[in-house]
Amino acid sequence: MIKVAVAGCFGRMGGAVVNAVNAADDMQIVCGIDLKADRNTDAFPVYHEVEEALSSIDVDVMVDFTQPTTVADNVACALSHGVDCVVGTTGLSNAKLEELAAKAIDGACLFFAPNFTTGAVLMMQFAKAAAPYFPEAEIVEFHHCNKKDAPSGTAMLTARLISEGRGGISSTAPGSETELDEAKGARGALVNGVPVHSVRSNGFVASQEVIFGSLGQVLSIKHDSWDRESYMPGVLLGIRSVGALEGLVVGLENIMEL
Ligand SMILES: NC(=O)c1ccc[n+]([C@@H]2O[C@H](COP(=O)([O-])OP(=O)(O)OC[C@H]3O[C@@H](n4cnc5c(N)ncnc54)[C@H](O)[C@@H]3O)[C@@H](O)[C@H]2O)c1
Repeated sequence: MIKVAVAGCFGRMGGAVVNAVNAADDMQIVCGIDLKADRNTDAFPVYHEVEEALSSIDVDVMVDFTQPTTVADNVACALSHGVDCVVGTTGLSNAKLEELAAKAIDGACLFFAPNFTTGAVLMMQFAKAAAPYFPEAEIVEFHHCNKKDAPSGTAMLTARLISEGRGGISSTAPGSETELDEAKGARGALVNGVPVHSVRSNGFVASQEVIFGSLGQVLSIKHDSWDRESYMPGVLLGIRSVGALEGLVVGLENIMEL
């Protein structure tokens, strides 16, 4: 039995992780960590802080779906206890992830996935494969109104992969110099040379469309997550995989059989 702690257990994603772990035969929730620790749950103890939890309970893996301002401290604490981490909270830079992983003890692993859905991982791989053949590429991402960061971690990574895949091709599309003074931002945010547009609206969970253009043709790659359950197979795979991994691992594609 893998002993799992969930940081952010009362949140939208953390709650879905609790349900998914409870439904799996090879793992169990041993505790939660959440600012709302005074909420009642008979099923497992909930602590305010990671330090308090890990000094009280034996944990193999901590899953973190909290918020960008909290995740670094949570992960630093868990790794300093030698506890493997599966992290979905976005907003950590690559440099910060490396700094955190460098302080892990006892071979603990920091596994971070900006997106735990298999479909989004494939969308990014397809986008990277298409990039050398299309000079124009733009990303439109759609999320619910409670998302705290823009652009999404998935959009940031997709832009980086397109840029890596481009192989010297450069876009001829007009940029921010064509924006009207009264409509700055109309051409999106430029991330690694790729315009990214963030839509925030009720009705969405997480969707993204990558649009490639060249003379006379457009290729569009679209992925939609309509339910947080779509992330759970990836999170459970992360929980099952980290015991055999060490140091920093970024991206579900590293543990998925592609
Ligand atoms: N990687 C992915 O596939 C993926 C998918 C969806 C969401 N996310 C990210 O996951 C994170 C959480 O998303 P959500 O929609 O579940 O958010 P949410 O606001 O519903 O839940 C966050 C939970 O964390 C708790 N929390 C906040 N600060 C805390 C702290 N200091 N200590 C302990 N608990 C704390 C809150 O009380 C809340 O219960 C966000 O960063 C989001 O972008 C990642």
